[in-house]
Amino acid sequence: MSSLKITLSCLVMATHLLSLTFVTAAFAVNLVGSEDELPQARKNQLTHIVQQDCGSCHGMTLKGGLGPALLPENLAGKPVFLLQHTILHGRAGTAMPPWKTLLTEQEALWISQQLKAGKIAKQ
Ligand code: HEC
Repeated sequence: MSSLKITLSCLVMATHLLSLTFVTAAFAVNLVGSEDELPQARKNQLTHIVQQDCGSCHGMTLKGGLGPALLPENLAGKPVFLLQHTILHGRAGTAMPPWKTLLTEQEALWISQQLKAGKIAKQ
């Protein structure tokens, strides 16, 4: 009886370990997946969106307007995921609208990375 119990708990342990491996693998794939390159054509579109649509509030050169400046020096202390979240969900009680119906998480992440790196602002 007790050896059956031991066998059973070993089985349960093994299953847990196995699913842990799967979860870890899936997580790793996911992380790589988010690094997955967006197609160049979409990147061009996104750059245009940021300059035109976001630029209408943040300034065409992203130096600020109704919305704050989005240049690297302004975003330096802010984690990329905070920016991504702000872009996707907007900021309640402010003019910053949510963009989640127009942009995917990956796209919002890409934009955040570009903004922080100063690769999107028109010179
Ligand atoms: C209608 C005006 C408006 C538009 C359009 C707009 N924003 Fe904003 N945005 C704001 C305002 C206002 C804030 C400041 C919110 C606050 O007070 O916290 C803001 C904040 C942000 C922040 C956070 C900045 C920080 O320093 O924490 C990011 C990032 C951002 N916007 C990105 C974007 C992007 C990318 C787009 C286009 C996809 C966009 N915004 C379009 C008005 C706008």
